[in-house]
Amino acid sequence: MRQLAGGMVSKAVFPGSFDPVTVGHMDLIRRAAGMFDELIIGVLVNASKKPLGTLEERVAILEELVQDMPGVTVQPFTGLLVDFVQETGAVAVVRGLRTAVDFEYELPLAQANCHMNPQADTVFLATAPEYSYISSSGIKEILAFHGDVRDMVPESVYRWLQTKCQDKRYD
Ligand code: PNS
Repeated sequence: MRQLAGGMVSKAVFPGSFDPVTVGHMDLIRRAAGMFDELIIGVLVNASKKPLGTLEERVAILEELVQDMPGVTVQPFTGLLVDFVQETGAVAVVRGLRTAVDFEYELPLAQANCHMNPQADTVFLATAPEYSYISSSGIKEILAFHGDVRDMVPESVYRWLQTKCQDKRYD
């Protein structure tokens, strides 16, 4: 998958809210970065009415985390994922699958995206078993009750989370 016909680079989009980015996300980013020449991490704008991190914070955190990964960049996007894929010239969307519940959710999304733009084909990566219980929404729930999420996020994200007001409830 490294080089396309005509010497074009293979480019993929890894989209998400990353609110916050987890160790599971980072594992998928590393693995996807090894499969494509370029990997664009697409950070969804207005992913939720009450995000834990602002768009600027989520982008900055990811940029720092991928700074040593060649070919990996971070871009915010708004609107339809298929339009973002088109704009970037990517040939694939990468999504992780943790459980059958993810599959039920992801399959129709991938099919709808492919219907709207056949270029926006989705490649699913199986989440590593040690990360399959980790989700951004679960982390926010744990934080709301002052639980420990140290093993679920990169060290820099853990430090950033500690600076956030722990008394708030995040959805
Ligand atoms: O991290 P998330 O919240 O699981 O990521 C979900 C994401 C960003 C991939 C999904 O919500 C998305 O693609 N949103 C953009 C709007 C869109 O294109 N929706 C699909 C309609 S079929």
